[in-house]
Amino acid sequence: MINIPKGTKDMLPNESFKWRHVYRIIDNLTKKYNIKEIATPTFESTELFVRGAGEGSDIVNKEMYTFLDKGERSITLKPEGTAGVVRSFIENGLFNNPLPLKVYYKTPCFRYEKPQAWRLREHHQFGVEMFGSDNVESEVEIFMFLNDFFRSFDITPTFSINYLGCSECSQRYKNLLRDFVKPNLKNFCSDCNNRYNKNVLRMLDCKVDSCKELLQCAPRLADNLCESCSAKFNKIKKSLDNLNIAYIVDTNLVRGLDYYTGTVFEILNITQDQGQVALGGGGRYNNLVEELGGKPTPVIGFGIGLERLMMYLDSVGYKYGEDDTPDIYIASAIEDSTVISKLASNIRQNGYSVEYDLMGRGLKAQFKYADKLNVKFVIVIGEDEVNNKTLTIKNMQQGIQDSIKQEELINYLEERL
Ligand code: HAM
Repeated sequence: MINIPKGTKDMLPNESFKWRHVYRIIDNLTKKYNIKEIATPTFESTELFVRGAGEGSDIVNKEMYTFLDKGERSITLKPEGTAGVVRSFIENGLFNNPLPLKVYYKTPCFRYEKPQAWRLREHHQFGVEMFGSDNVESEVEIFMFLNDFFRSFDITPTFSINYLGCSECSQRYKNLLRDFVKPNLKNFCSDCNNRYNKNVLRMLDCKVDSCKELLQCAPRLADNLCESCSAKFNKIKKSLDNLNIAYIVDTNLVRGLDYYTGTVFEILNITQDQGQVALGGGGRYNNLVEELGGKPTPVIGFGIGLERLMMYLDSVGYKYGEDDTPDIYIASAIEDSTVISKLASNIRQNGYSVEYDLMGRGLKAQFKYADKLNVKFVIVIGEDEVNNKTLTIKNMQQGIQDSIKQEELINYLEERL
């Protein structure tokens, strides 16, 4: 037998109602916020991600699924959703739309990571990117959306936020950090030594205890923001306070992708087995559109890991409230089965779900099957009922049975379903 690749998951039929539930919430909420859907290819030119996620990121350095296609082009399965959307924004002239342009996507992402319960090699993200506004209001809109999104699942999102600053204050801070780290550089892990040259800010994010210790007295980004960045960050925090959106400021939060420029955030909720898990993350990236060949355009966005979201929902005992069982089973042993097909078609056209025998089972076995399906009603039709244009219908939960005219069926169901 050939097994599923390591770090990937099948979505099985008995779990599909969870995905449907999540997608329904995404569809409803994006509509309320006037966010339109966008879809980009599962693979893109490798260069897009190298320039997008950045050469300093673990994603580009270690985790990409890259291969040469038959035309000798270097292709990469998308490790994240943002770069493809930005490429599409530029290539399709979406900047000609009235701004801000708000788009969302649901996409598979591929990262060659060490698989763990909450870490997959193929995962799915729901993401939003908002193009065109550099105003604090767009930050607030994104946080409000996320707050509404998680509350739709009865989750209180735990936001960690930080502000990376404009190019001047971020450059100044990077120099300060390099100066601080340099005398001790050989005592940091090899990843940090790489980060020192490629993107020194990422050292702040290192999970190795000895590196964390060495950085304990490092200068803090928050203390080194210029006046205007500091005012902007304060305004964002004040707006969140006014909206009762809870957050903590984590001055070491820099995120794993190189494109972020200002506000960065993660939704870090506590799980029983893993401690803190990032259900989502994002931030502002005002230089990426230009870096990928477009006109300078400020953008802010986020991505939420859907498998992680659903694992978290399971871990807190979330009730999906989705009813995945068919409404009706038609049990019959009559000669002309098209009578049953027609009846089923009529019931479906009226909005109810219905199943009937496709396996050539006898009546007794059909009842057994209907029981297993956990249907709400079983309709029984024999030759007599066909001739009299009647049917017998049994309410499986209440055990009540009625004999009605076939033409009364839809009314009967409307009153009871
Ligand atoms: P990210 O933080 O790399 O950001 O990923 C977003 C979310 O995807 C994570 O918070 C996590 O829930 C989920 N995720 C990431 N890797 C895995 C994995 N290996 N297994 C399961 N879930 C995973 C981005 O990708 C950015 N593109 C987000 C963004 C959009 N920033 C601005 N716009």
